[in-house]
Amino acid sequence: MGRLLAWCAALFLMAGTLTTTAAHAEDGYDLWLRYRPLPANIQARDSTRAASIVVAGDGSDPSVAKAAEELERALSGMLGGTVSAGGGVKSGSVVIGTAKDSRVRALALPLAGLGPEGYLIRSATIDGKPVTVVAANSGVGVLYGSFALIQRIQRGQPIDALDIASAPKLKLRLLDHWDNLDRTVERGYAGQSIWDWWKLPDFKDPRYTDYARANASIGINGAVLNNVNAKADSLTAPYIAKAAALADVFRPYGIRVYLSARWSAPIELGHLKTADPLDPSVAAWWKAKADEIYAAIPDFGGFLVKANSEGQPGPQDYHRNHAEGANMLAAAVKPHGGVIIWRAFVYAQENPEDRAKQAYDDFKPLDGKFADNVIVQVKNGAIDFQPREPFHPLFGAMPETPLMMEFQITKEYLGMATHLVYLGPLYEEALQADTWAHGKGSTVAKVIDGSLDHHALTGMAGVANIGTDRDWSGSTFNQANWFVFGRMAWDPEASAKAVAGEWSELTFGPDPRITPTVVAMMTTSREAVVNYMEPLGLAHMMGTGHHYGPAPWVHELARPEWNPVYYHKADASGIGFDRTKTGSNAVAQYAPKLAAMFADPKTTPERNLLWFHHVGWDERMASGKTLWEELVAHYALGVAEVADMHEQWRTLAPLIDRQRYAKTDSFLSIQQREAQWWRDACLAYFASVSGHALPPGEAAPAHSLAEYEAITFPYEPGR
Ligand code: GCU
Repeated sequence: MGRLLAWCAALFLMAGTLTTTAAHAEDGYDLWLRYRPLPANIQARDSTRAASIVVAGDGSDPSVAKAAEELERALSGMLGGTVSAGGGVKSGSVVIGTAKDSRVRALALPLAGLGPEGYLIRSATIDGKPVTVVAANSGVGVLYGSFALIQRIQRGQPIDALDIASAPKLKLRLLDHWDNLDRTVERGYAGQSIWDWWKLPDFKDPRYTDYARANASIGINGAVLNNVNAKADSLTAPYIAKAAALADVFRPYGIRVYLSARWSAPIELGHLKTADPLDPSVAAWWKAKADEIYAAIPDFGGFLVKANSEGQPGPQDYHRNHAEGANMLAAAVKPHGGVIIWRAFVYAQENPEDRAKQAYDDFKPLDGKFADNVIVQVKNGAIDFQPREPFHPLFGAMPETPLMMEFQITKEYLGMATHLVYLGPLYEEALQADTWAHGKGSTVAKVIDGSLDHHALTGMAGVANIGTDRDWSGSTFNQANWFVFGRMAWDPEASAKAVAGEWSELTFGPDPRITPTVVAMMTTSREAVVNYMEPLGLAHMMGTGHHYGPAPWVHELARPEWNPVYYHKADASGIGFDRTKTGSNAVAQYAPKLAAMFADPKTTPERNLLWFHHVGWDERMASGKTLWEELVAHYALGVAEVADMHEQWRTLAPLIDRQRYAKTDSFLSIQQREAQWWRDACLAYFASVSGHALPPGEAAPAHSLAEYEAITFPYEPGR
């Protein structure tokens, strides 16, 4: 009853102030492009400043046309009247165009430094009338600028006296879809693949357009359509035609398509006897294949390749190295302006070396050996998208080679669809990590934006979290991870917290009663998941195959590095992976300054401690607690942080539309239960290994270790 009263009171309150929320049933389909009516006072203010849309040129640029369409849709939705494109310049017009258009040229705007994709938004005067100009060197730049203007209005920010210039710092801003041709999505938790291959190329689902709009609104300019664990079929004529149909939809939005290429395709499709990159018939096959693709998709981006990793074929099968493989493909796409994105996520069954060292060992000696249209794609950490990893040692170690960041947006190791984990802080931590490659300030962000070693080819890829679920990403808050990925690919220096605020305003409305709470939840959420899953530098303790719940006890899998015990190495004496000289010496892969820091447990940041060191259970931590007590405290904190997030969400009940409120509320209940499960199962196991009892006042796990060990998930999603 009390809750009902609160609802009614809030609705009453809002009727006088905001019309943004509560009245609409919302299923999340609109993402951050909601364009709901703004509060009346903002509508009154902005209607005179965004009163009509004028396309400066002849209207023939398809991207400018999309920009005009988006502005019509957004302004009409938000400002409470019909705002249309067409007609002459009036007071309050939004004038959009490229440097080619005489009206834009006449304004003599400083567009030169903005590059092909940057934009400028300026309050100006045309024929004595106050207008807002969105100008760029290309139609896509105009589209990006139009989205930026729309988002300002959406967030209730003033649009008079504007002088905004922005250009992307990275060239390739890509989503990697791990989508299979049967519409399953590897590590996807938001339904099936949105690519309906069966009905393509004829039927172009309108969803493809909304996908492109969403990506363009955050500056994403490429999509790798198929799984890195690729099937050769993607390279056959029928599938090229399907990819071409998608490319046609995406083109006006500035999005190019890329394909994951299966290394052995010349054998599987071309009936060659080999896929040896130095065999001329293999090179000729790829050249012909590239020509065929470019005939259908003239702006095809290029190939992404996972080679010699996790059972995938690759050049090493023929005793050739990764550079020899990449360069052969690079020659095939080069005449068409394509690139090869070669993944550094490699580790091999036969290699007994610390898995965290293998990519560096393989790639570092190849620095400078890659063709100029190859970029090496490196995961943020050396293992695999764990809740926390130190930055990958390859960043800063290959000055002669363009390196591209690979983040995971889908939450394979972070609670899949249901756990609320905002990845902005994880991305920011990786990007702001200092490699010390050229002394202090040699951050990972500067490695990948090319400024540290003067590379023009730059990029960031995110493994997509998109599927056929109505809300695209499996939960409202997962949408924020897609959003922040786009923002950080545009500007790797972006602040995770600022982006969270921006996303909240676009997603829930610019309501000062909502934003600070949502931002607080989001910014705590990453540390919470680290605490309840893998605190103090632990990693890879999840269950086999599904990667969902805790399973630190697993030790019997065929490959050593598939077993959680390989990573935590807990025994009666202590816990953690010794990566110093007395162990695998992985620390030596970092710049000397960092190597020295990581070599000593006293100078290793506590958050990475057990990544680099095997530490005795009774050793004292900075807090004065023993390691065992500290570990227990972190698990407890993680559980408490989730409870707190849930409490905070509940205070928003009167302010958020029912459907999205209820889904998040229910997901937070799942997360609370599962944070407890992680804590209980891990502590039950570590107590048994260490022989330590839980400190006084700490609740015993709800079940026995054997019961936790018996939990299985035969039908989990994402495979
Ligand atoms: C992880 C993930 C796999 C994926 C691989 C990759 O290991 O579990 O599903 O194929 O990363 O990035 O290639």
